[in-house]
Amino acid sequence: MAERKEKLADRPNINNQVLLVYYSFSGQTGVLINRLAAGLKDQGIEVCFEKLKPVKHLRFPVGSILRTYLMMLATFFRRRVPIQQLSAKCSQEYDLIILAGPTWSYNPSGPVLSFLDRDGKDVLGGREVLPLISCRGYWKAHWWGLRKKLELCGAHFSNIIAFSHPNSEPWRTIGVFLKVAGKNPERSRFICKHYNHFGHSNEQMEEAYRFGLQIGESLRANATLEAINFQTKLALP
Ligand SMILES: Cc1cc2nc3c(=O)[nH]c(=O)nc-3n(C[C@H](O)[C@H](O)[C@H](O)COP(=O)(O)O)c2cc1C
Repeated sequence: MAERKEKLADRPNINNQVLLVYYSFSGQTGVLINRLAAGLKDQGIEVCFEKLKPVKHLRFPVGSILRTYLMMLATFFRRRVPIQQLSAKCSQEYDLIILAGPTWSYNPSGPVLSFLDRDGKDVLGGREVLPLISCRGYWKAHWWGLRKKLELCGAHFSNIIAFSHPNSEPWRTIGVFLKVAGKNPERSRFICKHYNHFGHSNEQMEEAYRFGLQIGESLRANATLEAINFQTKLALP
Protein backbone atom coordinates (compact mmCIF):
# COMPACT_ATOMS: atom_id res chain seq x y z
CA MET A 1 0.00 0.00 0.00
CA ALA A 2 2.81 2.40 0.96
CA GLU A 3 4.61 1.45 -2.28
CA ARG A 4 1.46 2.21 -4.29
CA LYS A 5 1.06 5.60 -2.59
CA GLU A 6 4.68 6.38 -3.51
CA LYS A 7 3.97 5.44 -7.14
CA LEU A 8 0.91 7.69 -7.14
CA ALA A 9 2.93 10.48 -5.55
CA ASP A 10 5.40 10.17 -8.46
CA ARG A 11 2.79 11.75 -10.73
CA PRO A 12 1.91 14.96 -8.84
CA ASN A 13 0.65 16.84 -11.91
CA ILE A 14 -1.80 14.17 -12.90
CA ASN A 15 -5.47 14.32 -11.84
CA ASN A 16 -6.91 11.56 -9.71
CA GLN A 17 -7.60 8.52 -11.88
CA VAL A 18 -10.24 5.83 -11.58
CA LEU A 19 -10.46 2.55 -13.47
CA LEU A 20 -13.95 1.14 -14.00
CA VAL A 21 -13.83 -2.62 -14.62
CA TYR A 22 -17.31 -3.87 -15.47
CA TYR A 23 -19.56 -6.43 -17.06
CA SER A 24 -23.17 -5.81 -18.05
CA PHE A 25 -25.46 -8.42 -19.61
CA SER A 26 -28.71 -6.50 -20.08
CA GLY A 27 -27.28 -2.96 -19.94
CA GLN A 28 -28.23 -1.96 -16.37
CA THR A 29 -24.73 -1.90 -14.86
CA GLY A 30 -23.61 -0.11 -18.02
CA VAL A 31 -26.01 2.82 -17.56
CA LEU A 32 -25.29 3.09 -13.82
CA ILE A 33 -21.53 3.29 -14.29
CA ASN A 34 -21.88 5.77 -17.14
CA ARG A 35 -23.75 8.14 -14.86
CA LEU A 36 -21.32 7.49 -12.01
CA ALA A 37 -18.41 8.22 -14.35
CA ALA A 38 -20.10 11.50 -15.39
CA GLY A 39 -20.16 12.52 -11.71
CA LEU A 40 -16.48 11.61 -11.32
CA LYS A 41 -15.53 13.56 -14.45
CA ASP A 42 -17.46 16.62 -13.19
CA GLN A 43 -15.16 16.51 -10.17
CA GLY A 44 -12.11 16.57 -12.46
CA ILE A 45 -11.35 12.85 -12.09
CA GLU A 46 -9.94 10.96 -15.08
CA VAL A 47 -11.91 7.81 -15.79
CA CYS A 48 -10.83 4.73 -17.77
CA PHE A 49 -13.27 1.94 -18.67
CA GLU A 50 -12.40 -1.73 -18.99
CA LYS A 51 -15.33 -3.80 -20.22
CA LEU A 52 -15.04 -7.53 -19.52
CA LYS A 53 -15.71 -9.26 -22.83
CA PRO A 54 -16.73 -12.93 -22.84
CA VAL A 55 -14.71 -15.06 -25.29
CA LYS A 56 -18.03 -16.30 -26.67
CA HIS A 57 -20.57 -13.48 -26.89
CA LEU A 58 -23.53 -13.88 -24.50
CA ARG A 59 -26.73 -12.93 -26.24
CA PHE A 60 -29.34 -10.88 -24.38
CA PRO A 61 -32.16 -11.86 -24.24
CA VAL A 62 -31.37 -15.56 -24.14
CA GLY A 63 -34.45 -16.36 -26.24
CA SER A 64 -36.60 -18.87 -24.30
CA ILE A 65 -37.94 -19.81 -20.87
CA LEU A 66 -35.96 -23.08 -20.91
CA ARG A 67 -32.68 -21.31 -21.70
CA THR A 68 -33.37 -18.81 -18.92
CA TYR A 69 -33.90 -21.64 -16.40
CA LEU A 70 -30.70 -23.32 -17.53
CA MET A 71 -28.76 -20.06 -17.25
CA MET A 72 -30.10 -19.44 -13.73
CA LEU A 73 -29.17 -22.98 -12.71
CA ALA A 74 -25.63 -22.74 -14.13
CA THR A 75 -25.07 -19.34 -12.52
CA PHE A 76 -26.34 -20.67 -9.16
CA PHE A 77 -23.36 -23.06 -9.28
CA ARG A 78 -21.09 -20.10 -10.19
CA ARG A 79 -20.28 -21.26 -13.69
CA ARG A 80 -17.45 -19.11 -15.02
CA VAL A 81 -17.78 -17.32 -18.35
CA PRO A 82 -14.29 -17.15 -19.91
CA ILE A 83 -13.26 -13.60 -20.82
CA GLN A 84 -10.84 -12.11 -23.34
CA GLN A 85 -7.44 -10.74 -22.26
CA LEU A 86 -7.57 -7.36 -20.52
CA SER A 87 -6.21 -4.23 -22.14
CA ALA A 88 -2.96 -2.54 -21.08
CA LYS A 89 -5.04 0.03 -19.11
CA CYS A 90 -5.39 -2.52 -16.33
CA SER A 91 -1.66 -2.58 -15.58
CA GLN A 92 -1.48 1.15 -14.80
CA GLU A 93 -1.75 2.76 -11.36
CA TYR A 94 -5.09 4.23 -10.23
CA ASP A 95 -6.35 5.96 -7.11
CA LEU A 96 -9.41 3.71 -7.18
CA ILE A 97 -10.72 0.71 -9.10
CA ILE A 98 -14.48 0.28 -9.31
CA LEU A 99 -15.52 -3.32 -10.03
CA ALA A 100 -19.10 -3.38 -11.31
CA GLY A 101 -21.49 -6.07 -12.48
CA PRO A 102 -24.87 -7.74 -11.99
CA THR A 103 -25.96 -10.37 -9.48
CA TRP A 104 -26.51 -13.77 -11.08
CA SER A 105 -28.32 -16.28 -8.86
CA TYR A 106 -26.98 -14.72 -5.63
CA ASN A 107 -23.41 -14.64 -7.03
CA PRO A 108 -21.19 -12.33 -9.03
CA SER A 109 -21.75 -12.85 -12.77
CA GLY A 110 -19.69 -15.46 -14.68
CA PRO A 111 -17.41 -12.92 -16.43
CA VAL A 112 -16.62 -11.15 -13.12
CA LEU A 113 -15.84 -14.53 -11.49
CA SER A 114 -13.44 -15.30 -14.36
CA PHE A 115 -11.82 -11.89 -13.95
CA LEU A 116 -11.35 -12.45 -10.21
CA ASP A 117 -9.90 -15.95 -10.74
CA ARG A 118 -7.47 -15.01 -13.51
CA ASP A 119 -6.63 -11.32 -13.01
CA GLY A 120 -7.88 -10.46 -9.53
CA LYS A 121 -4.51 -10.57 -7.74
CA ASP A 122 -2.65 -8.69 -10.50
CA VAL A 123 -5.20 -5.94 -11.07
CA LEU A 124 -6.78 -5.54 -7.61
CA GLY A 125 -4.04 -6.74 -5.22
CA GLY A 126 -2.94 -3.91 -2.91
CA ARG A 127 -5.34 -1.47 -4.63
CA GLU A 128 -8.32 0.47 -3.31
CA VAL A 129 -11.43 -1.19 -4.76
CA LEU A 130 -15.08 -0.13 -4.67
CA PRO A 131 -17.55 -2.82 -5.78
CA LEU A 132 -20.80 -1.82 -7.49
CA ILE A 133 -23.66 -4.33 -7.78
CA SER A 134 -26.73 -4.04 -10.01
CA CYS A 135 -29.48 -6.49 -9.02
CA ARG A 136 -33.21 -6.90 -8.97
CA GLY A 137 -33.23 -6.97 -5.16
CA TYR A 138 -30.98 -9.60 -3.57
CA TRP A 139 -27.38 -8.43 -3.37
CA LYS A 140 -26.22 -9.47 0.12
CA ALA A 141 -25.19 -13.07 -0.66
CA HIS A 142 -23.41 -11.73 -3.76
CA TRP A 143 -21.58 -9.21 -1.58
CA TRP A 144 -20.53 -11.82 1.03
CA GLY A 145 -19.06 -14.04 -1.69
CA LEU A 146 -17.43 -11.11 -3.47
CA ARG A 147 -15.81 -9.67 -0.37
CA LYS A 148 -14.17 -13.05 0.38
CA LYS A 149 -12.78 -13.10 -3.16
CA LEU A 150 -11.53 -9.51 -2.87
CA GLU A 151 -9.78 -10.42 0.38
CA LEU A 152 -8.11 -13.40 -1.33
CA CYS A 153 -6.90 -11.05 -4.10
CA GLY A 154 -5.39 -8.73 -1.49
CA ALA A 155 -7.68 -5.81 -2.46
CA HIS A 156 -8.49 -2.99 -0.02
CA PHE A 157 -12.14 -1.98 0.23
CA SER A 158 -14.15 0.00 2.73
CA ASN A 159 -17.57 0.45 1.12
CA ILE A 160 -19.98 -1.03 -1.41
CA ILE A 161 -22.53 0.38 -3.83
CA ALA A 162 -25.64 -1.68 -4.61
CA PHE A 163 -28.62 -0.70 -6.74
CA SER A 164 -31.78 -2.81 -6.81
CA HIS A 165 -34.68 -2.52 -9.23
CA PRO A 166 -37.41 -0.31 -7.79
CA ASN A 167 -40.40 -2.60 -8.61
CA SER A 168 -42.17 -4.58 -5.89
CA GLU A 169 -42.17 -8.36 -5.55
CA PRO A 170 -43.21 -10.77 -6.99
CA TRP A 171 -43.40 -8.59 -10.12
CA ARG A 172 -39.75 -7.68 -10.38
CA THR A 173 -38.72 -11.37 -10.20
CA ILE A 174 -41.32 -12.30 -12.82
CA GLY A 175 -40.40 -9.24 -14.89
CA VAL A 176 -36.64 -9.96 -14.89
CA PHE A 177 -37.21 -13.63 -15.69
CA LEU A 178 -39.49 -12.86 -18.64
CA LYS A 179 -37.22 -10.08 -19.90
CA VAL A 180 -34.15 -12.36 -19.84
CA ALA A 181 -36.21 -14.99 -21.70
CA GLY A 182 -37.02 -12.42 -24.39
CA LYS A 183 -40.65 -11.60 -23.51
CA ASN A 184 -42.03 -8.12 -22.94
CA PRO A 185 -43.64 -8.15 -19.48
CA GLU A 186 -44.23 -4.37 -19.67
CA ARG A 187 -46.57 -5.01 -22.59
CA SER A 188 -48.47 -7.95 -21.12
CA ARG A 189 -52.05 -6.78 -20.39
CA PHE A 190 -52.06 -8.33 -16.91
CA ILE A 191 -48.42 -7.90 -15.76
CA CYS A 192 -48.07 -4.28 -16.97
CA LYS A 193 -50.49 -3.17 -14.21
CA HIS A 194 -47.78 -4.09 -11.68
CA TYR A 195 -44.61 -3.94 -13.77
CA ASN A 196 -44.15 -1.18 -16.30
CA HIS A 197 -40.39 -0.79 -16.48
CA PHE A 198 -37.45 -3.21 -16.56
CA GLY A 199 -34.37 -2.32 -14.56
CA HIS A 200 -33.25 0.80 -12.76
CA SER A 201 -35.19 4.07 -12.81
CA ASN A 202 -34.04 7.47 -14.06
CA GLU A 203 -33.93 8.67 -10.44
CA GLN A 204 -31.48 5.85 -9.68
CA MET A 205 -29.30 6.95 -12.61
CA GLU A 206 -29.17 10.42 -11.06
CA GLU A 207 -28.30 8.84 -7.72
CA ALA A 208 -25.38 7.08 -9.44
CA TYR A 209 -24.27 10.48 -10.79
CA ARG A 210 -24.47 11.91 -7.24
CA PHE A 211 -22.39 8.98 -5.94
CA GLY A 212 -19.82 9.76 -8.65
CA LEU A 213 -19.61 13.38 -7.43
CA GLN A 214 -19.19 12.22 -3.83
CA ILE A 215 -16.47 9.70 -4.71
CA GLY A 216 -14.66 12.35 -6.74
CA GLU A 217 -14.85 14.83 -3.88
CA SER A 218 -13.51 12.21 -1.49
CA LEU A 219 -10.60 11.28 -3.80
CA ARG A 220 -9.64 14.90 -4.23
CA ALA A 221 -9.64 15.41 -0.47
CA ASN A 222 -7.67 12.16 0.01
CA ALA A 223 -10.48 11.06 2.36
CA THR A 224 -11.78 7.54 2.95
CA LEU A 225 -14.77 6.28 0.96
CA GLU A 226 -16.04 4.59 4.12
CA ALA A 227 -17.67 7.84 5.20
CA ILE A 228 -20.02 7.99 2.19
CA ASN A 229 -23.52 6.61 2.63
CA PHE A 230 -24.30 4.65 -0.54
CA GLN A 231 -27.18 2.74 1.03
CA THR A 232 -29.78 5.37 0.26
CA LYS A 233 -33.51 4.87 -0.29
CA LEU A 234 -33.10 5.60 -3.98
CA ALA A 235 -30.33 3.05 -4.52
CA LEU A 236 -31.99 0.34 -2.43
CA PRO A 237 -35.73 1.14 -2.42
C1 LIG B 1 -29.00 -15.40 -14.89
C2 LIG B 1 -29.48 -14.28 -14.01
C3 LIG B 1 -29.61 -14.48 -12.66
C4 LIG B 1 -30.04 -13.43 -11.82
N1 LIG B 1 -30.10 -13.64 -10.47
C5 LIG B 1 -30.40 -12.61 -9.65
C6 LIG B 1 -30.38 -12.79 -8.22
O1 LIG B 1 -30.05 -13.85 -7.69
N2 LIG B 1 -30.72 -11.71 -7.44
C7 LIG B 1 -31.07 -10.51 -7.98
O2 LIG B 1 -31.38 -9.59 -7.22
N3 LIG B 1 -31.08 -10.31 -9.32
C8 LIG B 1 -30.76 -11.33 -10.16
N4 LIG B 1 -30.76 -11.14 -11.53
C9 LIG B 1 -31.15 -9.83 -12.06
C10 LIG B 1 -29.95 -8.94 -12.42
O3 LIG B 1 -29.00 -8.90 -11.39
C11 LIG B 1 -30.46 -7.53 -12.69
O4 LIG B 1 -31.42 -7.57 -13.72
C12 LIG B 1 -29.33 -6.56 -13.05
O5 LIG B 1 -29.85 -5.24 -13.01
C13 LIG B 1 -28.77 -6.85 -14.44
O6 LIG B 1 -27.65 -6.05 -14.69
P1 LIG B 1 -26.99 -5.97 -16.16
O7 LIG B 1 -28.06 -5.43 -17.06
O8 LIG B 1 -25.84 -5.07 -16.02
O9 LIG B 1 -26.60 -7.35 -16.56
C14 LIG B 1 -30.36 -12.17 -12.38
C15 LIG B 1 -30.24 -11.98 -13.77
C16 LIG B 1 -29.80 -13.01 -14.57
C17 LIG B 1 -29.65 -12.79 -16.06
